[in-house]
Amino acid sequence: MARNGLNSSSSRGEEFTKSKINKENLQKISELLKYLKPYQGKFALGMVFLLLSSLTGLAFPALIKVMVDVAQGIKPDYGMPNSVNTIGYLAFAILFVQAFVSFFRIRLFVEVAEKALADIRRDTYFRMITLPMNFFANRRVGELNSRISADLSQIQDTLTTTLAEMIRQIVLLIGGISILIMVSGKLTLFNLSILPIIVVAGVFFGKAIRKISRQAQDKLAESNTIVEETLQGISNVKAFVNESFEANRYDKSLREVVKIAVRGSNYRGGFASFIIFCLFGAIMGVIWYGSILVQQGGLSVGDLLAYMLYSVFVGAAMGSFPELYANVQKALGASERVLEILKEENEPISINSNDNEIKDIIHGNLSFQNIHFSYPSRKDIVVLDGVSFEAKAGEKVAVVGPSGAGKSTIASLILGFYHAQRGEILFDGKPFKDFALTDIRNQVAIVPQDVILFGGTINENIAYGKLTASDEEIAEAAKKANAHLFITGFPEGYETVVGERGVKLSGGQRQRIAIARALLKNPAILILDEATSSLDSESERLVQEALEVLMKDRTSIIIAHRLSTIREADQIIVLDKGKIVEKGNHKELLQNPEGLYKHLSALQFEV
Ligand SMILES: Nc1ncnc2c1ncn2[C@@H]1O[C@H](COP(=O)(O)OP(=O)(O)O)[C@@H](O)[C@H]1O
Ligand SMILES: [Mg+2]
Repeated sequence: MARNGLNSSSSRGEEFTKSKINKENLQKISELLKYLKPYQGKFALGMVFLLLSSLTGLAFPALIKVMVDVAQGIKPDYGMPNSVNTIGYLAFAILFVQAFVSFFRIRLFVEVAEKALADIRRDTYFRMITLPMNFFANRRVGELNSRISADLSQIQDTLTTTLAEMIRQIVLLIGGISILIMVSGKLTLFNLSILPIIVVAGVFFGKAIRKISRQAQDKLAESNTIVEETLQGISNVKAFVNESFEANRYDKSLREVVKIAVRGSNYRGGFASFIIFCLFGAIMGVIWYGSILVQQGGLSVGDLLAYMLYSVFVGAAMGSFPELYANVQKALGASERVLEILKEENEPISINSNDNEIKDIIHGNLSFQNIHFSYPSRKDIVVLDGVSFEAKAGEKVAVVGPSGAGKSTIASLILGFYHAQRGEILFDGKPFKDFALTDIRNQVAIVPQDVILFGGTINENIAYGKLTASDEEIAEAAKKANAHLFITGFPEGYETVVGERGVKLSGGQRQRIAIARALLKNPAILILDEATSSLDSESERLVQEALEVLMKDRTSIIIAHRLSTIREADQIIVLDKGKIVEKGNHKELLQNPEGLYKHLSALQFEV
């Protein structure tokens, strides 16, 4: 089991990283905002509703003030109604407007955000799956997955809630403070004098709490990695009776989480009690001082009430900013990571190329000319070192050699997963790059050693080779691939669900499905990468038969370490450490007593 706890905890931790809010980052996020463009009308309308609902919110305390004053017989300001009932009706009318407007604001924002997000998700996903293979070499699937799920959800939250909430709170804050000053400048001044203390304490505690909760989250992610790894390798854990070892490991990790969380609780508790003191202290202070002002006649009871309500608005707005700000920062971090993918250069495949129409037909002549290749992720290691060979249309060319010799790499190069640093691959005498990548991949099929089936029916899995295939075509291909019999043996036949949640197929059965898939695709060039090497002899016979049908009339590159399968090949290439060390047919190669082929076959057949 790979112990990659460190890696995954840092990539997991990434979900919580935030970015500074600065011009450069805002510019970046504005690139994502172009996804709002198609829905800008609705977005603007939502904004108007948002402003309306915030402004109507501000009107309430003012109405309450007038109501209380009128009830006490104080004449209201010019233009204000002077009957309690009129004011009550007015308040309800405003309330109705506010409720109405709030509904549409939420409805519009959610619709716009969901649609825009679906667009971003679609683009990101398509971009992701059209990225060159090398991109995937350096990244874990979980990490990429979290771009589409976690990162985009963060952006979504920001678009649907945070943005609106921020605007609302800014309106409440600015409006609230202005009104506070109008109601009583003296009280406001008194209030503002407490503010700096709270701000300083908030910044201090906030920093400490954030730091500790980040540590706790990292530790938790680390312990989750243990769970994940153990479950993935559960058969290993059981086979080695390491249950208690894993449980101890998990326990140790959990203890650390608790330790950090408890340390953090000191700050949290301290902060909470401080805030409670300040909050109620401030309220008490305002009522105290306000009552003195009322006593002196400088302030009406309604004024004091309105003042209290507006201060609650302002206080709540201030209190909500740190979280809103943090959300925006997280969204910025998330957008950066999403944009990173959207900016990667992908393979030239268009989203509309689902008809898979072939423009340049390949007849099956394949030629490697002095190919030198290293994987981009490990540039210093030469994997193919001057490989040249030729396969004429319809020929069977076998590639043999010890494991790690570079055989599968040859397959990857033919499919254009990677590109050689030196040398050239020719199809029908024309260089690789003269063909569209899709044309090449549409005319090359591979049957790998380990066939992965998608969650879905057998029918769908075979049709993956040709999406437009009819049921008859699929059954025809399955018959040729020796798969029809076992498929119809299932109660649901071709509609049997396979994959993770369905029926588990044996290696040989999966292999034959892959062969049926390849038959449907009808490629000019076929690559078998150790297609039969993990099978028992009975299924190998069935698969081998199916392969014979599949190889008929097309160029076949047969990669094998079991030599029994390749005696009939027109040409055998023996590869060792990235170099071709021998070439010829079975008979010719056996003639060289010093040769690697002779050596390998001696190991396998004891001849
Ligand atoms: N995606 C990859 N990134 C980096 N190195 C790789 C990758 N795939 C294979 N290699 C390395 O390239 C060499 C040849 O691998 P491969 O072609 O799979 O060998 P074979 O199929 O002959 O067993 C090996 O040393 C292997 O470690
Ligand atoms: Mg291999």
